[in-house]
Amino acid sequence: MTMLNPGPSTSQAVSGVPTTRRCEPYMRLHWTDSATDAVGYLVVHTLRGGLATGGTRMRAGCSLTEVEDLARGMANKTATFDLPIGGAKGGIDFDPKDPRAVEVLERFCEAMRPWLDAHWVTAEDLGVPQHLIDEVFEKLDLGQSYHAAIRRAADPAATLERVRNGLNAAVDGGFLLGDVIGGYGVAHACLATAVQWGQAPAQTTAAIQGVGTMGGAAAYYLHEAGMKITTVADAAGTLYCADGLDIPALLDLRDGYGEIDRSRLPEGIEQQPRNAIIAADVDILVPAAISYAITPDNSYDIRARVIVEAANAATTPEAEAMLAARGIPVLPDFVANAGAVAWAWWLLLGEVDDTPDTSFDRLRTTMHNKVAQLLTAWTDEGVSPREVGHRWAADPAPLTGPVVIP
Ligand SMILES: NC(=O)c1ccc[n+]([C@@H]2O[C@H](COP(=O)([O-])OP(=O)(O)OC[C@H]3O[C@@H](n4cnc5c(N)ncnc54)[C@H](O)[C@@H]3O)[C@@H](O)[C@H]2O)c1
Repeated sequence: MTMLNPGPSTSQAVSGVPTTRRCEPYMRLHWTDSATDAVGYLVVHTLRGGLATGGTRMRAGCSLTEVEDLARGMANKTATFDLPIGGAKGGIDFDPKDPRAVEVLERFCEAMRPWLDAHWVTAEDLGVPQHLIDEVFEKLDLGQSYHAAIRRAADPAATLERVRNGLNAAVDGGFLLGDVIGGYGVAHACLATAVQWGQAPAQTTAAIQGVGTMGGAAAYYLHEAGMKITTVADAAGTLYCADGLDIPALLDLRDGYGEIDRSRLPEGIEQQPRNAIIAADVDILVPAAISYAITPDNSYDIRARVIVEAANAATTPEAEAMLAARGIPVLPDFVANAGAVAWAWWLLLGEVDDTPDTSFDRLRTTMHNKVAQLLTAWTDEGVSPREVGHRWAADPAPLTGPVVIP
């Protein structure tokens, strides 16, 4: 394992639209797997009260730069939602479908044990579902992936029980609260946008790239609210139906990697190339899969009126500037998808109980409030949502003492 030297700062601004603000992370770790060609990274962007939070992703091609961007995004999320911890991210450059993937994740977590034991609260992310990371933690005698926070609790066993009950609370659609809460927040970022437009959900159309944990849940709750989702994509391609897709039926056809079984598709669905979703003729485009999905190369293809980032770092700064020039705002990841981490900490801190209704109510109210402010600043003052978000993130609530976990 190597401690990396800080690289040069790459601060930049494009066409008056603020880019992701770059400042050096608190720490970078570089891990090489002894048994495969996998490499992994932990980047702690900020450490507050001795804690930092952020998921662990696995994908072939995952790079240190990507993990740094994601860790910075996590620091923005925790600050924007006034959570009393810093931001971090783990990433492993390995194919999550490789039969050795679970062993690689185990060895990565073992190597990161000092951080996972005391300072880094991790969770699911692209290619790593929550149940899998929890199984690995259990095998390593670390209990559950929120271990570093839970061990600080006055009664760790009771906190662990509350966390497990919250994550596993049953919600409509046959889902678990912990699997859908982030996507529920994304759905309400979209619904709040329609409210700002004065447009009913039924008159609003959406396209969602990725139907895994985040995209699948966002699609479910938008469909439930009556929004017409004409287009979805997974790693295998784009699916389109002008009248609106039957989202619950498609979600039932997913495998463990969030891919829809093409052999059992309902009638009337057109299959298109994977990247066709970017050009979907909809009101709202939700990238909910890979980072850097929207780049200068494809930004001119976008026909949506707004981008709602469910995926982390979904839009490159240059692409965002090009979209802004065309009057298309981007609701940034560190607001739109931050429901997942905010809720996890509300649960850890005892600010919501383990029943779904209190969690849904708090997240819905918070998200509508933040999106209304972002879009009002965009329409009234011409300030990008990311810039407003950065102002919030730059002014986090001060820590008044050690984090108290009941
Ligand atoms: N899971 C969380 O709690 C969480 C929280 C906040 C943000 N995010 C972010 O959301 C994004 C998705 O994470 P997830 O946990 O839902 O992942 P996931 O692995 O559960 O699902 C990923 C989905 O994207 C699809 N996909 C993969 N590559 C694609 C491509 N090139 N084109 C189209 N679709 C593709 C997959 O088929 C799958 O449907 C990531 O950027 C992640 O960082 C996740």
